[in-house]
Amino acid sequence: RVVYCKGAFVPEGDAHLSIFDRGFLFGDAVYEVTAVLGGQMIDNDAHLDRFERSLAALAIPLPVPRAEIERIQAELIVQNNLAEGTVYMQVSRGEADRDFLYPEGLSANLVAFTQARKLADTPSQKNGIAVDLAADLRWQRRDIKTAMLLGQVLLKHQARANGFGDVWMVEDGLVTEGSSSTAFIVTADGRVVTRPNSHVALPGCTRKAVLRLCDSHGLRLEERPFSPAEAQGAAEAFLTSASSFVTPVIRIGDVTIADGKPGPMTRQLQAYYLEAAR
Ligand code: PDD
Repeated sequence: RVVYCKGAFVPEGDAHLSIFDRGFLFGDAVYEVTAVLGGQMIDNDAHLDRFERSLAALAIPLPVPRAEIERIQAELIVQNNLAEGTVYMQVSRGEADRDFLYPEGLSANLVAFTQARKLADTPSQKNGIAVDLAADLRWQRRDIKTAMLLGQVLLKHQARANGFGDVWMVEDGLVTEGSSSTAFIVTADGRVVTRPNSHVALPGCTRKAVLRLCDSHGLRLEERPFSPAEAQGAAEAFLTSASSFVTPVIRIGDVTIADGKPGPMTRQLQAYYLEAAR
């Protein structure tokens, strides 16, 4: 695989970052994951917008102009012959001797790579998945897409060990989001419900696309938080992310959702999303 590291396209074995990179030492880095289908990036403008927003929130300068980032992503897709999968990019604050205080004027490190994997029509999307429930362990600025992901790593690992496909995190009696996805439910009277954007969760790009699809297809939408109990009693549940698209949730904790099969509204949104992506 050819990857991008600090200004050059190199074979992955030749890519090197300093052990003093602050992304490595402090998680002082932001990242984005863009889906690729048929060799084309999906919703990449939204991902680049969020990338710039995350960097600005941490006062890390964009190391190269936005157009150059797009060129790097496109070049990796071509060089790796990527038809379906993801493009990952990360910018760390840069390298400096270890100190919580960072010096001014560091030069930020940009790395990027592709991952080939099936994204559309996966078994999870066809059959749905079960999600565990767990207390949200993370910091208070989850709207910034930082590489500081240990909360999600541990919770997802535990959920998998418990036999679940993912985990929905809970804070103050309300679902925040999935370990790497946005949580949705559908009410008995057919309204699609998801949390409004705030500091408690990442503003998902796929979420944004799904809200737009609800709007353009006349589906009723409600942006409000919901509790685990409401989700367990909902007519349908699903989650969204760049790498899982729209994935039905058929069980939450030990409670089966409706008849345990992906619901009709979820199926429609899956189809609308794929249609727009292709
Ligand atoms: N994660 N919430 C969290 C905590 C996430 O990490 C992600 C995405 C999402 C969904 O955002 P989007 O629709 O923009 O992908 C929500 C990516 C896929 C990842 O870390 O691999």
